[in-house]
Amino acid sequence: MRTPIIAGNWKMNKTAAEAVDFVREIRNKLGQIKGVDKVVCPPFIALPGVYDALQATDIGVGAQNMHFAESGAYTGECAPNMLTPYCQYVIIGHSERREYFNETDEGVNQKAKAALAHGLTPIICVGETLAQNEAGETQAFVSGQVRAALDGLTAEQVASLIIAYEPIWAIGTGKSASAAQAGSIIGLSVRGPIADMFGEETAQKVRIQYGGSVKEHNIAEYMAQPDIDGALVGGASLKASFVELVKNAAG
Ligand code: 13P
Repeated sequence: MRTPIIAGNWKMNKTAAEAVDFVREIRNKLGQIKGVDKVVCPPFIALPGVYDALQATDIGVGAQNMHFAESGAYTGECAPNMLTPYCQYVIIGHSERREYFNETDEGVNQKAKAALAHGLTPIICVGETLAQNEAGETQAFVSGQVRAALDGLTAEQVASLIIAYEPIWAIGTGKSASAAQAGSIIGLSVRGPIADMFGEETAQKVRIQYGGSVKEHNIAEYMAQPDIDGALVGGASLKASFVELVKNAAG
């Protein structure tokens, strides 16, 4: 009943021109894959061009970050209404933003509220470090991130958003969490707290992705887990073989 969703987080890769060339290259094949929602998340500067190139396809566009304020003296930032002409989605609280740009749980919550208020679907990222994982702190840490991110939202808002569980130690390392491991953490530490906060019915509606070294050869294992509804893909979303990855996700 939950439509799977695969999103490509391009991070700081591809110029605006390269981004448009790339989506032109993959759009027909990607558009033919049914049964799974498809999203690309280019850098800000490439959003208008990518949006134009994907008109008349069913491929969605997302931003990688957003400020929560409507406008103002926030040098280098983009406000929600600057994104809405080009995007349906926005990634919020990626671990790289939390680590390198000091994003906090509180800021993630403010951004989630702002995105929803503007009709953007947040893809809220959570995930533990290697040290936390090895210390057995994963469940407490990840469920705390989920609770903080969703604080003050309505059940209806929560049902509409997406959460990406990305263990930091699995990002860009080629060291992915096993599908069973990821499925179990998502069930216990993401869907569990949502059920506590908003009820089981709402928890069953939320789409939860796994992220961290997802490739075309391992996506099917993640998709086979009942609590995993797709993936947030970094490196493997930058190449034309992303189409194969999405095909393998669709089954
Ligand atoms: P990789 O797929 O490159 O490990 O990146 C995952 C990620 O951070 C997606 O947001």
